Amino acid sequence: MKLSYTFLWCLQALTLTSAAVIENRSLASTILGEIESAASCAGCEAILDILKLLADLGNTAFVDTLTEICILSKADDADVCTGAVGLEGPIIAQDLRAMSVPSHTSQLFCITFFGLCPYPAVTPYTVPFPSPKPSTSRPAASGQAPIQVVHFSDIHVDQFYETGASYNCTKPICCRPYTSADAPGNNQYPAGPYGNTHCDAPVSLEESMYAAIKQIAPNAAFTLFTGDIVDHAVWLTNQTQNIKDINDAYTRMSGLPTVYGVVGNHESSPTNAFPPKALNNNAEQWVYDTLSQDWSQWIGSTSAAMADNFGAYSVINGNLRVISINTNLYYGGNYWLYEKTMETDPSGQFAWLVTELQAAETAGQRAYIIGHMPMGMGDAFRDASNYYGQIVHRYSATIAAEFFGHTHADQFQLAYSDYTAQNYSNALETVYICPSLTPTSGNPAFRVYSIDPVTYGVLDVVTYIANLSNPSYQTTGPVWTEYYSAKAAYGPLVTPPLTDPAAELTPAFWHNVTAVFETNDVAFQDYENRKSRGYFPISCTGTCQTQEICAIRGGEAQYNCAVITPGINFRKSDEIVERSQGVIEMGECEGSVLRPILARLAGKHGLLEDAVLKARAKYRKE
Ligand SMILES: *[C@@H]1O[C@H](CO)[C@@H](O)[C@H](O)[C@H]1NC(C)=O
Ligand SMILES: *[C@@H]1O[C@H](CO)[C@@H](O)[C@H](O)[C@H]1NC(C)=O
Ligand SMILES: *[C@@H]1O[C@H](CO)[C@@H](O)[C@H](O)[C@H]1NC(C)=O
Ligand SMILES: *[C@@H]1O[C@H](CO)[C@@H](O)[C@H](O)[C@H]1NC(C)=O
Ligand SMILES: *[C@@H]1O[C@H](CO)[C@@H](O)[C@H](O)[C@H]1NC(C)=O
Ligand SMILES: *[C@@H]1O[C@H](CO)[C@@H](O)[C@H](O)[C@H]1NC(C)=O
Repeated sequence: MKLSYTFLWCLQALTLTSAAVIENRSLASTILGEIESAASCAGCEAILDILKLLADLGNTAFVDTLTEICILSKADDADVCTGAVGLEGPIIAQDLRAMSVPSHTSQLFCITFFGLCPYPAVTPYTVPFPSPKPSTSRPAASGQAPIQVVHFSDIHVDQFYETGASYNCTKPICCRPYTSADAPGNNQYPAGPYGNTHCDAPVSLEESMYAAIKQIAPNAAFTLFTGDIVDHAVWLTNQTQNIKDINDAYTRMSGLPTVYGVVGNHESSPTNAFPPKALNNNAEQWVYDTLSQDWSQWIGSTSAAMADNFGAYSVINGNLRVISINTNLYYGGNYWLYEKTMETDPSGQFAWLVTELQAAETAGQRAYIIGHMPMGMGDAFRDASNYYGQIVHRYSATIAAEFFGHTHADQFQLAYSDYTAQNYSNALETVYICPSLTPTSGNPAFRVYSIDPVTYGVLDVVTYIANLSNPSYQTTGPVWTEYYSAKAAYGPLVTPPLTDPAAELTPAFWHNVTAVFETNDVAFQDYENRKSRGYFPISCTGTCQTQEICAIRGGEAQYNCAVITPGINFRKSDEIVERSQGVIEMGECEGSVLRPILARLAGKHGLLEDAVLKARAKYRKE
């Protein structure tokens, strides 16, 4: 999840307050008009020219000015403004200084920050492969007794969670004694000991899940953990605390069946900041050092050394190659990627992935790809998603399944060999997306897969939850129970029905499930409600339904029907949208929230102009 709205909001505020604007109020309304106009990229380019001027004054000027505007315009609490802008500002200032306007990079920047500009067409690139695609296809299920694999994700453990602290605070994430009014005993909204939907997971909830996993799947072959350990108080992160968070979480995981982890976007500080190798910037090397050390107990020293490079590794378990990739290298929220000319293969990870998959194919192994952000989501760069898709297509007979997290929702996606004529016979891969432990997006959850021990195909997906609404949840603690089995829920709905415990849930099967969603409204609504594990009921019909089914079939991001809505990133908090609508991905099912924010801002022109004038007088190097 990304939570850089404070920064984005301040950028927007700035657009109204540049010197040019101050000197000419009608230009302000022109820019305002451009922001409001979904069709125009020109407004955004005008905004970038202004922002570049400010970035040219230096990082300090950039950060101080935006921080001051953020505070004066009451975009957020002063400490959140200072922390968030201070962490993210220097990276964005560097992007802006190097940026040509207009360019591919500036268009993507406009989309990410302002929801403006049409998405640029994918830059054609043919991924090179060492050998042609063989004629082999997915092996048939073996019929042998299945093994179990556990999957959990997005634990977002808050080490500063306090029982009795207010869950109704003014910050993006609560249940901490930020102020004396939030402290235990001083507030009317005391948090219980086991978590709250306005807060990240307390350690008690994390430990409860690990205990449940050991009880429910004691003989699991291994565990997949698809990342995001650190809490959402992103304005307070620092290297020391993140290292402690990461080490503590992996220490508590010891005793679970062999854990294969990935790098989440929250593991770095600043959040989302993962410089690709070409930048020769080692500022976040400590993330890889920490993770590879923690992982080595399960993946061994050779794979751990591999992981220390840029967070990716492979490890062999039986006849399976588990390949863990660092998806932050393709994530729109990673501001290090907005280079003057964006790289085709940041850190060389695609070339590395091809080598790994080729080795698996040559050795007759099957492969799992695990990572944090699903590569078909709206916040994955479409270029990278296309190149990744070519790799998945080439090695589709070897890749048994893909496993991701990041969205916090219980869902899946499908990759196809032909997106223009999607059908069950050209569905290539299933992307299993695991719901989160953190309760911000619904009932805490984990999954247990039933796996073919020969082909490693997925035979069933069973999601377990701890029901937050259970009356005894905060007293006797979370009780983990089976929520649903994918085979039991969806198997009978397709033709022919798929109920044999030994049958694989193939991409063709999942495609047929999406076809059921088009005509069986009850089945589709059940799927939608399962995204939050029944916590935030949602009604998704009409365009929402069409877009959602398109998104499930959008294993390659340019085909996921994500709508770029102007100002979409200015919403106060991603979580608020999740709570009210049960949807998480950018651009799905929600309207623009830009208009009310602009209205709020309009009354504050004087304040903002003063702040910028002062900053310019202070920093301008004539
Ligand atoms: C103010 O901006 C408008 C629109 O860009 C322009 O037509 C006008 O000439 C400007 N006025 C001054 C005094 O610069
Ligand atoms: C938080 O407090 C405000 C008033 O202080 C109240 O209106 C609101 O309903 C509360 N929110 C929750 C989630 O309890
Ligand atoms: C890092 O963050 C933690 C938790 O917010 C804080 O207690 C600590 O003082 C911070 N350390 C530094 C060096 O800023
Ligand atoms: C699926 O689509 C492909 C084109 O990609 C087409 O050749 C094939 O006939 C279709 N199969 C079915 C069952 O519709
Ligand atoms: C998918 O549906 C088609 C009919 O549209 C059927 O022929 C095929 O067997 C189904 N495959 C699976 C795995 O459900
Ligand atoms: C959770 O518990 C509440 C209260 O008992 C119940 O109404 C709700 O249906 C349960 N949710 C799920 C997903 O089982």
